[in-house]
Amino acid sequence: MVSHANSGPRWSRRNFLATSVVSTMSVTLLDHPPADAAPASAANPRDPIVTNTTINGRHYRMAIDVRTTLLDALREHVGLTGSKKGCDHGQCGACTVLVDGRRILSCLTLAASTEGKNITTIEGLAQADGKLHPMQQAFIDHDAFQCGYCTPGQILSAVACVAEGHAESEAAIREYMSGNLCRCAAYPNIVDAIKQAKNKMEGA
Ligand code: FES
Ligand code: FES
Repeated sequence: MVSHANSGPRWSRRNFLATSVVSTMSVTLLDHPPADAAPASAANPRDPIVTNTTINGRHYRMAIDVRTTLLDALREHVGLTGSKKGCDHGQCGACTVLVDGRRILSCLTLAASTEGKNITTIEGLAQADGKLHPMQQAFIDHDAFQCGYCTPGQILSAVACVAEGHAESEAAIREYMSGNLCRCAAYPNIVDAIKQAKNKMEGA
């Protein structure tokens, strides 16, 4: 909210509600995984709950509204905006992240349900020294994006697609990547990128 020195904040029902909710939430970066892994249940359902997750190898304790989706927790609270909100309804795949190695739609996943789990977002896919994951490199090599909005979700979905053994043919890739839409229609290049990365990932 923007405040002006002389006029003070302008209150409306909308910004009052936004301020009330946001002010109850917090994120703490921990040095180690916490010993108490279970999410703390709130006595009052309107109170924030505390949840512990590992995101890209770092441990976070979040106090969040129980209704917060994983996508909103990542973007709005942790500050990882690589995961995109396309439809917010489970239809486009732009919000795909990996939870314990499995691809999920973070817009349809409550953050509280990821207690104790390992989450990988596009920001955590490259190695610590900056070397890109073979899938990231393949997307660059094959020009597999235009606007790039769908790309983080495409790449994470593609990593899981290969790991699942669903990248054995072009038809299989198209079938098992069909949950990730690309409005720029970069599909042929995406398929080529996945074929290249599959070979790299499997050491062929
Ligand atoms: S934003 Fe999650 S599927 Fe579209
Ligand atoms: S690259 Fe634009 S939506 Fe896929």
